[in-house]
Amino acid sequence: MKSYKIALIPGDGIGVAVIDATWEVLDRAARGAGFRLEGTPLPWSCDFYEKTGAMMPADGIETLRGFDAILLGAVGWPARVPDSVSLHGLLLPIRKAFVQYANIRPHRLLPGVQGPLRASAFDILCIRENTEGEYAGAGGRVHNGTADEVAVETSIFTRKGVERILRFGFEQARKRRGKLASVTKSNAQKYSMVFWDEITARLAAEYPDVEVTNYHIDAMAARMVMAPESLDVVVASNLFGDILTDLGAAIQGGLGFAASANINPERSAPSMFEPVHGSAPDITHLGIANPIAAIWSGAMMLEHLGETAAAEAVMTAVEAATARSIGTEPGKHKTTDITAAVLSALG
Ligand code: IPM
Ligand code: MN
Repeated sequence: MKSYKIALIPGDGIGVAVIDATWEVLDRAARGAGFRLEGTPLPWSCDFYEKTGAMMPADGIETLRGFDAILLGAVGWPARVPDSVSLHGLLLPIRKAFVQYANIRPHRLLPGVQGPLRASAFDILCIRENTEGEYAGAGGRVHNGTADEVAVETSIFTRKGVERILRFGFEQARKRRGKLASVTKSNAQKYSMVFWDEITARLAAEYPDVEVTNYHIDAMAARMVMAPESLDVVVASNLFGDILTDLGAAIQGGLGFAASANINPERSAPSMFEPVHGSAPDITHLGIANPIAAIWSGAMMLEHLGETAAAEAVMTAVEAATARSIGTEPGKHKTTDITAAVLSALG
């Protein structure tokens, strides 16, 4: 029987409950489709940091390299460990080390979910650059603590990095409705963003079947609210994509529904799947975290592994649950009830 080795990093807060839920659903789907998922839980988290002084062991990246995929819950508990330490100790280094340069985030309304907009028929695929740009980590501080203190943080845009994320976007657009929106701020940022626009224009010539539109990030923010149905594939830099995908989460009914896949398209290292939401320490002990974003991310993992039928079965089951208004409103159902509804729809 075909078997996949999955690293499970529940992480912090509600990450634990949503990964438990997701694992139950994925395991059921795998059995149904005739393959095995072999999960290895890794306790890397803020708890782990308090015990060991690091978010993951020194050889954590090497350990992960041996898996077919990584399923991650959420990282961060700012009251215990500063976010700048926890995220730079676990989530962000994995994205970079494994060249997971395409962060894919789908935004559409599941049946039964009432979004805040009048529009309901949108289907946006945000593709966020995930290894460089504003998150490159290039910078420093001098004259610390004095009146002359200076902090510098420089965005890094490389030809290789920009070209590969845009190319990935063009390929996705080709498989979907053939429209690509490239997001920059080239009216104000005249080096990196003009560079991005130039690469977009050059690639557009290779994809005559894809309709390309350039948007500035501010206009894109407005468009996602006013005319989301006009968008198909949206490609943006790391920080712009981060911001736009919280907006995407909002228009799809909230962070409880926003899934993501950190993909290494060349498959030279494992890809990682995680809900867009964070660890939500404030609701961690209430048992009401919505597992749907994590389960949807799990379906994206099955898709990436080539288990398309199982991935579709999971999404059909999620949609059957939400169509019955299970898990569609924050706090209305327990995590376990939502999971049970998805499991029963899976059969
Ligand atoms: C996300 C998150 C992370 C990011 C944080 C937790 C560092 O907001 O995945 O969108 O900014 O990438
Ligand atoms: Mn974010």
